Amino acid sequence: MRVHVADHPLITHKITVLRDERTPSPMFRALTEELVTLLAYEATRNVRVEKVTVRTPVSEASGLAISKPRPLVVPILRAGLGMLEGMVKLVPTAEVGFLGMVRNEETLQPAIYAERLPDDLSNRQCFVLDPMLATGGSLLAAINYLFDRGAVDVTAVCLLGAPEGLAAIEKATAGREVTIVLGALDEKLNDVGYIVPGLGDAGDRLYGTV
Ligand code: URA
Repeated sequence: MRVHVADHPLITHKITVLRDERTPSPMFRALTEELVTLLAYEATRNVRVEKVTVRTPVSEASGLAISKPRPLVVPILRAGLGMLEGMVKLVPTAEVGFLGMVRNEETLQPAIYAERLPDDLSNRQCFVLDPMLATGGSLLAAINYLFDRGAVDVTAVCLLGAPEGLAAIEKATAGREVTIVLGALDEKLNDVGYIVPGLGDAGDRLYGTV
């Protein structure tokens, strides 16, 4: 598993404002979008491309085009939705699918309650959007689901991560092509599974339901 933790003062500045409990939802949403666009730059470092040639007004020039099948961006509902615009701004030709995940209150396991993805994921490069990598349970379920459906590599873009969640995903995806891109790696999880210091409940902060 590859892990990239952002190391740029602009990213840290924006995350600091997100963490601040006084930041209102409209600003939280705008900053999330900006942050994801910055993280998308790193997340797409290994996007599949092929060589192409174009004609400039002066001569031929060789360059790159994003390969087919197009990358698939998969926000995990609900909070991942707040990251979608920031991602597709940078990769406008990506296809978008959706996964809704909920925790089964009996088994405590994450379960998929909604799914809108292309039928055929074989050979697909997928970018999962989930703001908070906490225990890693739902992200891992999403990653495994995409691999089971035929995806060949999965990159997760998260605003914040906890070491416990990273370790869980690393252990469970050994041998798979998985990359995690984080805006920041925080200290730990608390006893109710929140990231510390974190930013609270990302879905509530984005959509204003507390
Ligand atoms: N989900 C959140 O929204 N926040 C956390 O701290 C952990 C999981």
